[in-house]
Amino acid sequence: MQYYIGSDHAGFNLKEIIKEKLKGKYKFEDMGTFSATRIDYAIVGFEVAKKVASEKNAIGVLICGTGIGMSMVANKVPGIRAALIYDGFTAKMARQHNNANIACIGARKISPQATISIIDTFLSAGFDGNKKGGERHKKRVEQIVAIEKEHFKEDAIKKGFSLENLFGSKKKV
Ligand code: RB5
Repeated sequence: MQYYIGSDHAGFNLKEIIKEKLKGKYKFEDMGTFSATRIDYAIVGFEVAKKVASEKNAIGVLICGTGIGMSMVANKVPGIRAALIYDGFTAKMARQHNNANIACIGARKISPQATISIIDTFLSAGFDGNKKGGERHKKRVEQIVAIEKEHFKEDAIKKGFSLENLFGSKKKV
């Protein structure tokens, strides 16, 4: 499994803590931001989401002030099921029932200590959909995938969609 992590300025300190505290268990590829200088969450969130969506066994963690902006932008990327998680229960359910592939965290809402355990729960849980008795979860996630497929008829990312194309010049993370 490949692990990606990203944050805006509001989540920068917490991102560093997560990497440090969980380094023995998960090796994160850090996609920025790399300082507490203000940066728009959409820039980092999109890059991480694109990476996770383009790899078979990838999972992401995105941190901003509330986790809301990151989940909004990540969920615009086809193939992404980003979940805003805030405790052990939502962390576990996001994986077991929703097969989430990105966890979004609000750094201004959750303590670093709680975050470590929440992220660990998220990353170590698995999807119930392929287990006996979990068929309903598989069906529901397949419904999400089918809706997405119908709605995003053009695979923009495969066609080279990028922030550069959209905003003119890519902001440096
Ligand atoms: C930044 O001030 C804040 O708006 C951002 O981190 C995030 O909470 C947005 O959803």
